[in-house]
Amino acid sequence: MSLFPRLGILTGGGDCPGLNAVIRSVVKSAAKQGWETLGIYGGFEGLLNKEEYDILNYKDMGGLLTMGGTILGSNNKGQFTAKTGLGETGKIPKEILDRAKSTFQQLNLKALVCVGGDGSLSIAQQLFEHGMPVVGIPKTIDNDLQSTAYTFGFDSAVTCATEALDRLHTTAQSHNRVFVLEVMGRHAGWIALHAGVAGGGDVILIPEIPFVYEKVCAKILEREKAGNRSTLVVVAEGAKDPTGTQVTLTSGEVNREDRLGGIGAVVAGEIQKRTGKETRVCVLGHLQRGGGPTTFDRVLCTQFGARAVQLVIQEKFGYMVAFQPPNTTIVKITEAIGQLKTVPPDCDMVQTARALGISFGD
Ligand code: F6P
Repeated sequence: MSLFPRLGILTGGGDCPGLNAVIRSVVKSAAKQGWETLGIYGGFEGLLNKEEYDILNYKDMGGLLTMGGTILGSNNKGQFTAKTGLGETGKIPKEILDRAKSTFQQLNLKALVCVGGDGSLSIAQQLFEHGMPVVGIPKTIDNDLQSTAYTFGFDSAVTCATEALDRLHTTAQSHNRVFVLEVMGRHAGWIALHAGVAGGGDVILIPEIPFVYEKVCAKILEREKAGNRSTLVVVAEGAKDPTGTQVTLTSGEVNREDRLGGIGAVVAGEIQKRTGKETRVCVLGHLQRGGGPTTFDRVLCTQFGARAVQLVIQEKFGYMVAFQPPNTTIVKITEAIGQLKTVPPDCDMVQTARALGISFGD
């Protein structure tokens, strides 16, 4: 039996750059306070099996600050799936919550740090309501959690998408082509908006601003007239076509949201048909989720991890750490989940983009 108070940590949902940096920060700052950290493997599923853990030592954290993925593994399916669709949260069966609590007790944990997006934090909240002392850390490349200006992983995904635009820029110019870059983000257009602005996109299509092809093509032809024979279009995977439909790859999986994807090809096909311009599509996909975190995310992850340990020691459970610039802060998990943080169509960044002549196809 350990002499030190113990906390558990798990990473849930889709992975993103910075998960290992958060784990490192939690382990190191917990150790400095005389706490032992147990890493639970496989996301929340690991709570169903008391063999699925390892003690994480301060000295083993070397190299984690910059390493992509998560050493604990993650999961966005299984018996804990709480996210069933846009804004819908499924109830986890009592029997599963009981089993999780029993593992927690058998491992002699005093707290559980749950690192995740809105689905995982919805699970964390249900564990909390079931009597488990839980603290949340907001993660997702989509940046769609309420009450925090940024989730970690977002900046790294935007950086990846921006670099892709930089590359597409040169090849588009060489061939006088239109390039459509499809980026992730689920029902929020944050990645498309930020990468579009940072990467010099000419058209940005996001779920929050309905577009029509006439306006998208008018922008391309206007550029052509002004001597710019290539155009970059950034489209969020969740952008709705002019009939208001999202393009999905699969549907109907039990307890899982539809996988978004394919709008880029639809938009590219329509542009080529309507303008006669040679148009290509590039789907960035999981490249946005892989690899190490940017400098910004490394700092944010480090701050989030240390602040989460503070919450554990203060026994402030049911809270999530958050970033409200310039400081980190804490909010109730319930304030972050339930309703996605989407791009306000008249927000500052959209206005900046419009001021520069970027079209949203509206
Ligand atoms: O929520 C993060 C995210 O990468 C979304 O942007 C994307 O729609 C989804 O996860 C992809 O999930 P999966 O890894 O299951 O394909």
